[in-house]
Amino acid sequence: FDAVSRVLDAFRAGEPVLVHDFDDREGETDLVYPAGAVGSADVARMRNDAGGLVCVALPNDVSESLGLPFMDDVLDHPAASSHDLAYDSRSSFSFTVNHRDSFTGITDRDRAMTISRLAPVAEAARAGEYDADDFGGEFRAPGHVHLLRGAPNLLSDRQGHTELGLALADEAGISPAVVVCEMLDDETGAALPKDAARDYADRHGFAFVDGDGLIDELV
Ligand code: 5RP
Ligand code: ZN
Ligand code: CA
Ligand code: ZN
Repeated sequence: FDAVSRVLDAFRAGEPVLVHDFDDREGETDLVYPAGAVGSADVARMRNDAGGLVCVALPNDVSESLGLPFMDDVLDHPAASSHDLAYDSRSSFSFTVNHRDSFTGITDRDRAMTISRLAPVAEAARAGEYDADDFGGEFRAPGHVHLLRGAPNLLSDRQGHTELGLALADEAGISPAVVVCEMLDDETGAALPKDAARDYADRHGFAFVDGDGLIDELV
């Protein structure tokens, strides 16, 4: 069997997958779900089993339609004056949101609501049927779910989990919104080693793929 087709099947079925980027980039494995498939138990899995930051990636065109900027471009503060990431030329962070029907925004139920609603929203935005005002009517900022904005030409421009996840969603033919969360090691606090992430995937019956495997198939 091939790892990428297993990942695509999982995405179409609304199941999570594990995506390791590259040993010479972050060297991290993210737990990645199609945003539309996420419920409370999935948010619980992200914070308990993954432990990183829960973020929803949206494509560049969708982010543009919704008025979601790169924070790099809009922050006017000395902390944002030079972008000297060790592993890439720039971050994909936009701002944070809560669904307006959420209460504090942080509970599993609240975050699942915010995350899952972003899938139909992304699809409607791509179809030109949902704009920044509609978005503001449904979400408030700041909130508790980080938004990430994909690079304009996805993997040809940038090869982060943001773009890897969005490229998978496109290839699977599902809504262009994916949630990513880094797998951290509870013993060391560091990124979970690739082998341990692969073991986690095997134990739970989840598909695992790495950036090189994805680039070979998708680019
Ligand atoms: C946000 C991050 C993660 O690494 C996430 O995978 C998205 O970033 P990137 O596209 O740079 O990999 O930093 O928690
Ligand atoms: Zn990162
Ligand atoms: Ca844990
Ligand atoms: Zn990443």
